[in-house]
Amino acid sequence: MTADALLRAQPGLFLQPGLFYVPDYLDRAAQEALLADLRACLADAPLYTAHMPKSGLPLSVQMSNCGELGWFTDRDKGYRYEALNPQTGRPWPPIPALAEKAWWDLGDDPQAPQACLVNYYGPSAKMGLHQDRDENALNAPVVSLSLGDTCLFRFGGRNRRDPTRTIKLNSGDAIVLGGEARLAFHGVDRLLPGSSTLLPEGGRFNLTLRRVR
Ligand code: SIN
Ligand code: FE2
Repeated sequence: MTADALLRAQPGLFLQPGLFYVPDYLDRAAQEALLADLRACLADAPLYTAHMPKSGLPLSVQMSNCGELGWFTDRDKGYRYEALNPQTGRPWPPIPALAEKAWWDLGDDPQAPQACLVNYYGPSAKMGLHQDRDENALNAPVVSLSLGDTCLFRFGGRNRRDPTRTIKLNSGDAIVLGGEARLAFHGVDRLLPGSSTLLPEGGRFNLTLRRVR
């Protein structure tokens, strides 16, 4: 077996303390069901092009949110959580039940998730190495689900210069960043376009569930 296949044969494993990886957490039917719910969310809260604070440079990933709070960024106000979608003035749609189920199945926090960031990666989108640190509730984990094309996910330690590793995240895979890994640097180097048949349009959705306060 290749190293990849060995890794994927596990029911779930810690890649490093606090960083839990569950290959095939969602089977194909669950992926399709979650995708249908996600499309309904996006009909209400369409994907938008997020911009970096100050520089105003666009991110290559398109974003939206579900839940009582949504992570948002634009040039003028920067990274923050918003209870109302700045694009529509309406509350964000509720978190899809299957996504919330992942929080309860895989996370270890007694309280419900408050935010679910939706990232959409087109074939050439990526996300630089960063920490998720706009939340006050750093005791609660980040639970992440992948739908669509496989990506190369990079992760390291709490310092940007710590050594990093990459794994392939396939459609249906889950990652939990908790405990010692809650502030681990992570990012997406690139997609493997055409690796999944889930999304007719291609690309990849990633959902990350969090508590904010
Ligand atoms: C993120 O860190 O917000 C996204 C990670 C991913 O796309 O897997
Ligand atoms: Fe992140």
